Amino acid sequence: MITCHTISDLQQQLQDYRSEGKQVGFVPTMGYLHAGHASLLHNARQNNDIVVLSIFVNPLQFGVNEDLDRYPRNMQQDTEVARNSGVDIIFAPTVEEMYPQQPLTKITVAQVTDLLCGATRPGHFDGVGIVVTKLFHIVKPDRAYFGMKDAQQVAVVETIVRDLNMDVEIVRCPIIREPDGLALSSRNVYLSAEQRAQAVIISESLAYAEQLFLAKEMTGEQIVEQVRQKLQSASLARIDYLQLLSYPQLKQIDLHDIPAHLEEQLLLATAVYFGETRLIDNCLWEG
Ligand code: PAJ
Repeated sequence: MITCHTISDLQQQLQDYRSEGKQVGFVPTMGYLHAGHASLLHNARQNNDIVVLSIFVNPLQFGVNEDLDRYPRNMQQDTEVARNSGVDIIFAPTVEEMYPQQPLTKITVAQVTDLLCGATRPGHFDGVGIVVTKLFHIVKPDRAYFGMKDAQQVAVVETIVRDLNMDVEIVRCPIIREPDGLALSSRNVYLSAEQRAQAVIISESLAYAEQLFLAKEMTGEQIVEQVRQKLQSASLARIDYLQLLSYPQLKQIDLHDIPAHLEEQLLLATAVYFGETRLIDNCLWEG
C-alpha cells in the first residue's frame, strides 16, 4: 500500500495499472475511518483490481458555523484500517493541492438538494459536488462506492454522474451500525456518555417506523407523527428534520396515499441534534 499526497504522484501510479487494463474502485472519505468506511472498502476490494481511498476533509462542504476545525483526524489509525481493508493507494492531498485557488466553477444540483440536509446546510452539496467531481476526474475510477447513511449525498452524486455523462458506476452500500443500532459516524466521538446512550433513539424510531409501514395500517403522515413523538421522548434530542420522500428523486409525496403508494422507493430521513452534534440516519422502503 502506498500513500500519495499529490495529484501527479497519484496519477503516475494509476497510469501503470491502467495500461495493464486494471479496474479501479474508489472510496472517497474525509478520514477518521470506522467500520462503515471499511465496508465500502471491502466492497471495492471484491469487485476491482485496484482500490483507491481518498482522505480529504473538504473545507468547501462545511458551513461557517460548522465543525471543520474540530473534525476528527487520525492518519495513523486510518492507514491501519486502509491496510487491513486491502487498499492499494491512499490519496491524501492537502487543501492547497486540491484548491490552489478558490474554484470559480460551481457544481450545483437542483431539486434533490432543496430538502433535508440541503435545506439545513446551505452550500453543503455544492461543496460535495465540486470535490467529488474533482476526485472523479483525478482518479478516473471504474466504480465509486458511497454509503446509504448519506442517502441524499448518493442521490446528488448519481444526478451529477447522469447529467454530466461521467463514466463511473456509483455503487450504493448499506448503512453499518453499532450493536445497539446507532449508525456509525466519525461524528459519534463528539457525543457525551449520556448523549451516546440516548442517541440510540434514532435507529429505534426508524425501526419502529418500518414496522408501522409494513403493517400498512397508518398513513405516511401518521407514521411520521409517531416517529416524531418517539424521537422527542429522548430528553436531549432536538429534531432538525424528519421527512418521508420519494427516493432518489427526493420529491414530496402525498402522505395520505401511503400505504397505497407502490411505484417508487420511499426514504424516511432524519437529522437529530444531541447538543452541538448533528446525527443523520434514514431507512429506505420499497413502495
Ligand atoms: P465521510 O463522512 O467520511 O463518508 C465517506 C463515505 O462513507 C460516504 O459515502 C458515507 O456515506 C460512508 N459512510 C459513513 N458512515 C457510514 C455507515 N455507518 N455505513 C455505511 N457507509 C457509511 O461523505 C463524505 O465523507 C464526504 O461528503 C465525501 C463524499 C468524502 C466528499 O467530501
